[in-house]
Order: sequence, then structure tokens, then C-alpha cells
Amino acid sequence: MDVVFKNGSIVTGEGIFEGMDLGIENGKIAALGKNLAGQKIIDAQGKYLMPGGIDVHTHLDTSFGEMHTADDFTSGQLGAIAGGTTSHLNFCFPAPGQSLMESLAYWKNKVFQEALIDYGFHMVIRDANHLKELSGLIEKGVSSIKCFLAYKDKLQIDEELFYKTVEKARDLGILTMVHAENGTLIDYRVRQALGRKELLPIFHARTRPPEFEAQSIHFAASVASVLRAPLYIVHLSSKKGLEEILRAKNAGIPLWTETCPQYLFFTEEDLQRKGQSPGLEDFEGAKWICSPPLRKEEDREALWDGLISGTIDVVSTDHCSFYFQGQKTRGLGDFSKIPNGVPGIEERLSLLFYYGCIKRKLPLERFVTLNCEFPARLFGLEGRKGKLAVGYDADILLWNPQLKKTFSVHSHHIRLDYNLYEGFYVEGGPEMVMLRGQILYDQGRFLVQPGSGQFLFRHPLDLL
Ligand code: URP
Ligand code: ZN
Ligand code: ZN
Repeated sequence: MDVVFKNGSIVTGEGIFEGMDLGIENGKIAALGKNLAGQKIIDAQGKYLMPGGIDVHTHLDTSFGEMHTADDFTSGQLGAIAGGTTSHLNFCFPAPGQSLMESLAYWKNKVFQEALIDYGFHMVIRDANHLKELSGLIEKGVSSIKCFLAYKDKLQIDEELFYKTVEKARDLGILTMVHAENGTLIDYRVRQALGRKELLPIFHARTRPPEFEAQSIHFAASVASVLRAPLYIVHLSSKKGLEEILRAKNAGIPLWTETCPQYLFFTEEDLQRKGQSPGLEDFEGAKWICSPPLRKEEDREALWDGLISGTIDVVSTDHCSFYFQGQKTRGLGDFSKIPNGVPGIEERLSLLFYYGCIKRKLPLERFVTLNCEFPARLFGLEGRKGKLAVGYDADILLWNPQLKKTFSVHSHHIRLDYNLYEGFYVEGGPEMVMLRGQILYDQGRFLVQPGSGQFLFRHPLDLL
């Protein structure tokens, strides 16, 4: 073997296997067992061996209107590596009127020289012309798309286009992802609020009630039911939304969902936090503005239960970072102008490990299923990513459960002037991060070069 991890606890979705060796040859996992011999030996005693994290929901280097995300691929992927994520799927937004293929070609070309970890794209469907292009996506290695039912007059598509898209995607083995909120009613409530001079960040949450998420999930699930088509609800935020997911699953509708750390750790009260900067005292909450918005304590608890019970299938981050100064502050005096999005690519795994596995008894097997195995299966990477098994890419985390850390803007690797989890203490994190057999990160040192990440050519959905 080229490399052997010795005497670790191997974690898969099925179990934890103690005192095991893991051997690597030519960047692939070649053997799991005892007494393996290799040219390079890495001691894994007292540590977990887990698959590299897969984050299937990121927005790096992306424009939303006039606003461009703070993180590009380099800074976002550095954060990902430090947190133990070795693959991610980014959203590809064609410009208004631009074809899917042109947009995909642009992003593939732009990213391939700079990527540090493996990456793929989901295409965003913006208009009816994109329907004709769906049939070309699979041969380009893209097996998922996203439809927005929110952001009226920007990204929102109408019900007919949504229906046609889901139908066509089904026939091609493409998974349709849905941003499920009623954008039309939200738009009306935002205009009402502004008319009443309700301008502070908290009104972002008050104009987007959880009922509008639940109703939109119900609508999307109805389409999936009529068409017998697969759907994936992104960034689930509420208890009412979760109830709709459970109802659809119980009815046998092929529907899956993810939630994100921000919905597990914060509530709408965070939108009312007080800041220190003169003139921005009532605006601190803008850092927590995302859509759907943060909810209430009972929603947060329900989402944790959904992770443990299995109603929620995936944890992703929806990492979409905007600077507080200069970007979020564009919404000072008008909450509707605050760019929507929060970071999380760097913190996801340690947060889930410490506050989930250690504090809430989320089984470690489930941690691996939610963050690695199931995302790989849903998004066309099975057989290659997300699992420690022979023949899979050697994307490996040497996970030290004793590692202690407090998240801070002063020590994170993403490019942002705040850390959403500032002051959060965690135990457990990646001591070493390996991608296809190459060590990217070792005890705080980055050993990675631009170009070490590869485009993920994904196969069609085959879970039905
Ligand atoms: O607030 C969010 N989630 N921003 C990113 C875009 C999206 O809707 O996923
Ligand atoms: Zn969304
Ligand atoms: Zn998103």
C-alpha cells in the first residue's frame, strides 16, 4: 500500500469499526482490515477515520443582483478543508437570458485551474428556454438543477414552468432541488412592512412566516406526487415545513430534504442582537439574514429531532457569505436590501459532531450518513465519494475527538469580516484531511495547491 492509517475507528453509515487499518493505493481505498503494511504509516489510534465531508449546497464566487459573495473558490475551499469538507456542489446561476450550457462552460473553465477540493455544479433554471437544454446536462456530468419558488421578479419561476421542469428532469434522471417559499406573498408582505416603516432586520423573518414555507413544500410535493418525480427541498427551516416533508414521505412521494447549521443553532431572536459599531447598534442581526429566515426555538428543536429520526436526509451549509461592512450594511434602513446569505462551510462538521453527536447523542453513523454518504448517493457520486469502502476515492478525515476549538473571525479561513459562530466552543475536528490520497491539511498546515481539486462528473439519480 502507498499509505496505511493504523488502528483507527472507521466510521460508516452502518457502524463504527474499531482497531482497523485503512490502506490506500493510487488515491483509492484499497483495503480495510488488520495488520496492513504500507510505505507510509499514519497512526490513527484514538481517532476516527471518516469520509471527507460533502457539502451539496454552496454559493462561492456568485453574484446576486449587484452583490457578489465575499468568498471565491479559493477562500471558500480553504475554509472547507480546515473544517473537513473535501467535495462541494456549487450553484451555477445563468445570467438573465444566458443559456445553461454557456453558463456551465464559463464556470467549469473558470474554476478548474484554481480548485483546491473536488467540486460540481447544480444548474439554476430561470426561464422556459432552459427546459430545452436539460437533455444535455447528464452528458456534461450535471445531474441536479434548482428551481426557486421565491425571490419574486428575480429568480422565482411560475408554477407551470416548475411543473414542466420537474417532469422533464424526472425523465432524464436529474434531481430537482426546490427553494420552497411562497415568493408572491412574501413580496406583498415586504411591501406592506416597508409601508409601515418596519425597517429593521427582524422584519425579514416576520414577512416570511413558516406557513409560507410549509405551503410551498406542500405544493412542490403535490407536483412530485402527480408526476412520480424526485424532489429535494433545500434549506428546510421550520417545524411546519418538516411536518409537510414527513407527510409526503409517508405518502411514498420520492422527496428528500436538507437543513443547514444556521437553522440548528440560531433563532429569529438573533436578528435582534445589538451591535457595538456607532450607527449600527440595531443592525447587528443583518449578519444572520438568510432565506428562509431563522425561526423559533420549537423549530430549531424539531429540526434536531428530524436529523436524529431520519426525516431530514442531509446537512449542507448554503454557504453564501456577504461582508457585514459594505454589503450587509446596504440594507441599513431597509431590511429588504440586506443581501441574503450566511457562512458555514468551515464550521459544519465540528458543530454537528460536538453539539449533535456529543451533546445530543446523534449517532456518529448518522453524522456520516447526513454529511457524506447520503449526499453522495443523491447527487450521483455513489461508488466514488462519501464512504470508506474499497474502490472509493481516498477522501479521508483523521478526526480527533479531543481537538478543542473556539470559532472566531480572527482564526477562520474564509474571507469574511465576521464569524456567524463567534465564540462557539467545539470539541472534535479534522487533524488531517486527505483528498484522493493527497494530504491537503495536516495539524493546521495547508499542503494544498491550486488545481488539486477536480470537476465531479456525476451520474443520474438512481435511487427510485
Ligand atoms: O439566503 C440564502 N439562502 N441565500 C442563498 C440563496 C438561496 O436561496 O439559497
Ligand atoms: Zn434557496
Ligand atoms: Zn442556497
